[in-house]
Amino acid sequence: MDKPAVIPPVRPIPEHAADPDLHVVYDDVKRRLGVPWVGVVVQAFAHYRRFFDHAYAQLRPALGSHYVERVATDLRLLSWQTVTERFTVTDQAATLRDDVGYSERELAEIRTLLDVFDYGNPKYFLLATIVKAGLAGGDTIGGIRPADPADLLPRSPVTAATVTPVMLEQHHVDGSLRELYDDMKSGLGLPFVNSDYKAMARWPTYLRLAWDELKPVLDTEPYLAVRQALNDRCTTAARELPYPYRLGRAELADLGMAAGEIDELADVVSLFQSLLSGLIANVTHFKIAMTGGN
Ligand code: 2OP
Repeated sequence: MDKPAVIPPVRPIPEHAADPDLHVVYDDVKRRLGVPWVGVVVQAFAHYRRFFDHAYAQLRPALGSHYVERVATDLRLLSWQTVTERFTVTDQAATLRDDVGYSERELAEIRTLLDVFDYGNPKYFLLATIVKAGLAGGDTIGGIRPADPADLLPRSPVTAATVTPVMLEQHHVDGSLRELYDDMKSGLGLPFVNSDYKAMARWPTYLRLAWDELKPVLDTEPYLAVRQALNDRCTTAARELPYPYRLGRAELADLGMAAGEIDELADVVSLFQSLLSGLIANVTHFKIAMTGGN
């Protein structure tokens, strides 16, 4: 669950910079997952193109299955239960409405945005956890016959949203929003700003309010307990994947990747697998705050 000791170089290929072939894959990823954005985790994996193509080809059937949908729902609900039990979260919607001047329609737009990431992040978390297990162990992950054959059926045709949320990239912002991004990267211990926060930055006064209430709880005992619960559940789900996945160091060397590149990739995978449990908890915290607090 821990980040790598040294934060590796992370070189995401954003959707707006993807070549035509990668664009086709990115569109397929969003369709399989039913989400309107390509997670930075996938963007970062795409830098290692041979690895990414082989990993995605193996993961693709699972990502469109009821199994992944069911696991993602379990993770989303587990986060809601554990965050609600362990934290007191204020009614930020009331603050935004009464003290800042947000209309009900604007508050609803924020809730809709949070729902998109609340739905998609658990799927990216499972993807990263499978890839990490495959790299760490080197043997086959999953391929387990499911107790319920329905797990192998296509997931519900629900799509979180079709339009990619507007995201304020780091190079788009300056001044106080740039400082807020820097504070978030420092507080989260990350060299980049996650998609969720870049989308929330469409409302800078909201993002600051949400971050200011979240920041003090990061890395507290209750927060780590929530992350541990999510990580344990996801790790078990990766092992029970009904589809086989195998892409260890030996296979990557066979693909022509040098040992140093494989080491760097392993750190990148570990970084994202580690951050996603916290990202899920953070979005839950934001959602509770926007639905009356607890
Ligand atoms: C994101 O998009 C890591 O997938 C996550 O920021």
